[in-house]
Amino acid sequence: MSWDFKALEVSAQTQIAQANSLPVLEAIRQKYLGRKGLIAQIYSSLAGSSAEEKPRIGKGANELKDLVTGLLQTKQTELRSQEKSEVKALDVSLPGVSFPLGRPHILTQTIDEICTIFERLGFVVEEGPEIENEFNNFTALNIPVDHPARDAFDTFYLDVPDPQNPGRYLLLRSHTSPGQIHVMKKYRPPLAVVIPGRVYRPDAVDASHCFMFHQIEGLLVDDNVKFSDLKGMLETFCRHLFGEKIRLRLRPHFFPFTEPSADVDISCYLCDGKGCSVCKKKGWLEVMGCGLVHPKVFEAVGYPKGKYTGLAFGMGVERLAMLKHGISDIRLFFENDLRFLKQF
Ligand code: DAH
Repeated sequence: MSWDFKALEVSAQTQIAQANSLPVLEAIRQKYLGRKGLIAQIYSSLAGSSAEEKPRIGKGANELKDLVTGLLQTKQTELRSQEKSEVKALDVSLPGVSFPLGRPHILTQTIDEICTIFERLGFVVEEGPEIENEFNNFTALNIPVDHPARDAFDTFYLDVPDPQNPGRYLLLRSHTSPGQIHVMKKYRPPLAVVIPGRVYRPDAVDASHCFMFHQIEGLLVDDNVKFSDLKGMLETFCRHLFGEKIRLRLRPHFFPFTEPSADVDISCYLCDGKGCSVCKKKGWLEVMGCGLVHPKVFEAVGYPKGKYTGLAFGMGVERLAMLKHGISDIRLFFENDLRFLKQF
């Protein structure tokens, strides 16, 4: 058999040059260098060739093989690097990668909202410690030694002795009111602060109770602070939080650290006071406790007797968030279920 090596070389060169992908190039490699490929065929034709033809065919086959191997190698490198740069190139028609947007927890949002309203009214945000002593949590707030709130059933006592009071133990604050004591010791009047924070009580967990929850305490101390100041300010606050339409009602109540004291109700924002399931047919919703600072509290922080007057209030953040957003179970705040959290 006579082989036209010149023609075979030209045809291999053309085919390899035109290959536009790695699979096509592989097919060409098989065609020339494969076990049953062209070059293998040429070598096997040697057996039936004449003695004069053999050297020419052998040399031609070797040269063709070297040529094709070299060309395939070069082309393969070229196609590979092309493929890589194609991957790197930006395809603007592909859908974008979306990053899920995070947000503050609904309780954080509520605390921020409440504090912002008070900041606009001239209050400053302060924080107090979660670990307290009996003096700040009770005594300074005029809570008598035999008051049931001091009982271990109502307060988490720690296994940590109070360094300032031998024989007594530190505790987890059961309300944010001890924050009032810290603030009054730190600053002289006039002062107006709100103190948000976690509080702890050994309550059995149910739809409306948890052993840890959040409160926001308010305290304003100045000359000549009146009960009407308290009412006007809380009315402004409640209207900002629950809407312009709501009315405020103060019911006489008792707190050891304020005198007089009151519970604050708002007309139900849902039924406008007519009675519905949110207000349990009462038309009113209790939102916080308040009063004028008791002289004993001023005495406990060492303010001169009779010099200052003040107003104070305290509210539960979970309760307000539940009312505002129609949340029926306090446990939802702490379960970290994204289906709940994503709604706010
Ligand atoms: N500390 C009270 C509680 O935990 C709430 C409270 C009521 C705070 C009246 C006050 C206040 O400052 O004046 O129930």
